[in-house]
Amino acid sequence: GAMAAERALAMATCTAPVNIAVIKYWGKRDTDLILPINSSLSVTLHQDQLKTTTTAAASRDFTEDRLWLNGAEVDVGHPRVQACLREVRRLARKRRGGSEDTATLSLSYKVHVASENNFPTAAGLASSAAGYACLVSALARLYGVEDELSEVARRGSGSACRSMLGGFVQWQRGERPDGTDSLAQQVAPETHWPELRVLVLVVSGEKKPVGSTAGMQTSVETSPLLKHRAEVVVPERLAQMIRHIQERDFEGFGQLAMRDSNQFHATCLDTFPPIFYLSDLSRHIIALAHRYNAHHGHTKVAYTFDAGPNAVIFMLADTVDEFVEVVRSSFPPSTNGDQFVRGLPVGSAVLPQELVGAVVTEPVPGAVQYILHTKPGPGPQLVDDPSQHLLGADGLPRRRA
Ligand code: DP6
Repeated sequence: GAMAAERALAMATCTAPVNIAVIKYWGKRDTDLILPINSSLSVTLHQDQLKTTTTAAASRDFTEDRLWLNGAEVDVGHPRVQACLREVRRLARKRRGGSEDTATLSLSYKVHVASENNFPTAAGLASSAAGYACLVSALARLYGVEDELSEVARRGSGSACRSMLGGFVQWQRGERPDGTDSLAQQVAPETHWPELRVLVLVVSGEKKPVGSTAGMQTSVETSPLLKHRAEVVVPERLAQMIRHIQERDFEGFGQLAMRDSNQFHATCLDTFPPIFYLSDLSRHIIALAHRYNAHHGHTKVAYTFDAGPNAVIFMLADTVDEFVEVVRSSFPPSTNGDQFVRGLPVGSAVLPQELVGAVVTEPVPGAVQYILHTKPGPGPQLVDDPSQHLLGADGLPRRRA
């Protein structure tokens, strides 16, 4: 009958956001449980511009667990994917109090998972955080689990735990060896600072030399600066950053975000052998931001860089039009000039000659591929509309990204 059919195939679809850290996570004290050496803090970006969508399905007819990323089947045996699956199932079992209720989805059914991004993976925008946050959200929905989800997402990728919440989010390092207190907490919702905007400057697409996971492990093993940062610098900065956010103090927020990005990249240089994530163009953008701020006499824009050369730049809404024009003049688009600015609308601005003279020194044509305009946004969302499922009734992918 209908009841039995429902239990035979269950499906849930969620979306999850990207986040950008302003106090960086770099280094683990436990590589298996993914426990960090320091707490970190990030801003969740809006899913209208950057998001992952994931459908998870379970059926008694599935013969094995399977996973598709952007339409292509990949190995489901990845230890981090397996850890997320195992942990969600464990929480489901715990919630059911050990009894296998026939009305709930059987935990012995195999799962099919399909995931896709609404942005090019090749652009080097952090996709693993949104990816694991979305995997865990969809699985949790499938199995009816609600709590402790940031701890599960953390097992996929450290930074993924922060994508389980919207707005301004801290990941507390925790003290316990089992990681039960290493979780994400919201510092403020996305509505707290409505004027805050984010520009992602996507630079030409060279692949990053060393992945975060391997890079941070070498840093933990060799960098005395990283040890000092984790023990002394970050605890002070985290408290300051929370205060700046609570007070919506852009000067304080921006200064500290830039300093913390710079110190993270300094620990990469202090790693032996050293790791370089910033490119000449990244440094060019850093210098441009400082010239722009100096011209205005205060912090109007604040950059931050993760394990790659793309720049993420914070500013208030009233600065966007002018700064986008500064970027356009500094890095004149070579092709697709009409698609140079994407995301939220940007108005036109005429730059005063004085500003151009002081800020736009030696333009580099074509260096910035495009600018994505976005803002802080909410955490993972449930997709109610069944037509949005990425898997069909047969449990196989329905369409390509
Ligand atoms: C530079 O979360 O990608 O983006 O835990 O090994 O998966 P794993 O690393 P990951 O590292 C992110 C590092 C960073 C800083 C940050 O997001 O805090």
